Amino acid sequence: MPIQQNVDLAAFNTFGVHCNARYLAEINSLQDLESALGFAQDEAIPIQLLGGGSNVLFSQDYPGLILHMKMRGIECLNEPGRVKVAAGENWHKFVMYCLNKELYGIENLALIPGTAGAAPIQNIGAYGVELEDFFGELEVYDMASGQRRIMDKADCQFGYRDSVFKQELHNRIVVLSLTLQLSPIPAPCVEYPALAKELKTVEPTPQDVFDVVCHIRQSKLPDPTKLANAGSFFKNPVVSEEKYAALLSDHGNVPRFPTFDEGLVKIPAAWLLEILGWKGERQGPVGVHDLQPLVIVNYGGASGADILNLAEDMSASVLEKFAIVLQTEVRII
Ligand code: EPU
Repeated sequence: MPIQQNVDLAAFNTFGVHCNARYLAEINSLQDLESALGFAQDEAIPIQLLGGGSNVLFSQDYPGLILHMKMRGIECLNEPGRVKVAAGENWHKFVMYCLNKELYGIENLALIPGTAGAAPIQNIGAYGVELEDFFGELEVYDMASGQRRIMDKADCQFGYRDSVFKQELHNRIVVLSLTLQLSPIPAPCVEYPALAKELKTVEPTPQDVFDVVCHIRQSKLPDPTKLANAGSFFKNPVVSEEKYAALLSDHGNVPRFPTFDEGLVKIPAAWLLEILGWKGERQGPVGVHDLQPLVIVNYGGASGADILNLAEDMSASVLEKFAIVLQTEVRII
């Protein structure tokens, strides 16, 4: 497995930010992974795993080795509804594969950019469904022991755009494959308001849900291959019921999403940013998307620092006006 030196990462991140990685290795197999990790250990340099590069911001040159995960393969297992996907497969292609095989559940997660291996790291979610709802198991490579092992749902400690892989196990395991438990029987999840509003039929099929989700995403979110972006830059904040009541009395109708934690309310960061007038704002080569203010776009030539400056201005204004701290969904490297 060749290790490339001094690689421009612009083609490896959907923000299209130019920055230099000291080394980069394409990982197509377990053998590639083991030799790349051996190289990093010998050179005493840090490593960074990368899938589709759709949820990262390179804020500076990277001094270590980027492992670009490209392992391929999708397999329907013997148990009904059980399907296994290798880490490097494109997520949306996998969603389409499942739909074609009449395996249902993840049609709400259509068109999410990135790879299957990255999906459990941030427990991807959209339109009322999260990856954890259909999780079966993960096959991971443990960098400390050099062993492969299986992790179940409890091991992964999933939360809203969160998992153990963003916490204690950050950069300590490599996802090799993901197994989902899907349903051979259609059971569309159509409660999410924006989805329910667009679905024209009373008893939608999974294909209807897939089509509508693709339509909503294509009409509201910029296609990263045409306008560089990394989806939602910020997470939706979770606040106490008391804080929510105070917001209501100050600002009228504040939308809310349910959470599983009693006494806590999730509110759309997009709403806070829209009130503050961020939609369509520009700072040189970077800007806030005019249809979805959670999305920061690179109009061309922006550096990681340009994007970070805009993001910091946005979160500072939310803090000042609403006393709410926005957390980034995008991982800053
Ligand atoms: N809203 C506004 N102004 C806007 C857009 C939205 O006020 O311009 C408010 C509205 O009240 C709207 C609510 O926000 O009803 C929710 O909007 P939307 O359905 O667009 O969802 P979101 O909470 O802004 C989240 C995810 C998206 C995902 C959508 C759909 C996060 C951080 N983002 O956005 O995920 O596609 O829900 O489920 O949770 C991503 O992670 O990259 C991503 C795009």
